[in-house]
Amino acid sequence: MNLAVFASGTGSNFDAIIQAIEEGKLDAQVSLLVCDRVGASVIEKAQRHSVDTVVFTPKVYENKAAYERALLEDCRTRNIDYIILAGYMRLIGPTLLEPYQNRILNIHPSLLPAFPGKDAIGQAFEKKVKITGVTVHFVDDGMDTGPIIDQEAVRIEDTDTEEDVKRKIQAVEHRLYPKVIQSLLVKEESL
Ligand code: GRF
Repeated sequence: MNLAVFASGTGSNFDAIIQAIEEGKLDAQVSLLVCDRVGASVIEKAQRHSVDTVVFTPKVYENKAAYERALLEDCRTRNIDYIILAGYMRLIGPTLLEPYQNRILNIHPSLLPAFPGKDAIGQAFEKKVKITGVTVHFVDDGMDTGPIIDQEAVRIEDTDTEEDVKRKIQAVEHRLYPKVIQSLLVKEESL
C-alpha cells in the first residue's frame, strides 16, 4: 500500500508511521510527503528517510481547486492508495475528496466530536475535563467531522500541566495511527 502523508508541522506522527513500517507493524510505504509550509520540520524528517517531498505555497495558485489538482496529480503519479493527514492545517476540497473517497484519514488530539478545530489540547485543558483523547477518522468536507474509525481515551490528572497532557496524547497518537492504518489495509486485502 502506498501512502501519502500531508503534514505541516513537526512530523512526529510522520516519524511514528515510518517507524511502524520499519518495525514491520505496518505493511505499507510512504511514497510522498505533502507540506504547505516552507521550513516545517517534517520536511527534514522526510528527507532523512528519502521520501519524495512536495512543498507547495497555496498562495501562488489561483484557488484551492488549482493546488489540489496539482496534489492529485502528485498522488496519482505515485499510485497513492491512502492520504494520511498528520497536522495538515487545511480543509480538503472536492478535488481530492471525490477521487479519494474514504481514503483520506485524519488524526485529531481529542475525543471528537468534543473540541474540534485548532488547539484541541488547550481547549480540553481549559475546560478542565478529566478525560480527553485521540480520534482517527475519515475526512469529509467539514472540520474534524468525518466518520470516526477509532478513538482512545487519555486521563487528565489534577497535577498534569498542559505539556504533560500533550505528551500523553502524542504517545497515544504514535501508537494508534499506524495501528488504524494497518487495520484498514488488512480489511481491504480481505475483500
Ligand atoms: C497532532 O497532534 C495531530 O493530532 C494534529 O496535529 C498534530 C501533528 O503533530 N492533527 P506532529 O506534526 O505529527 O507532531
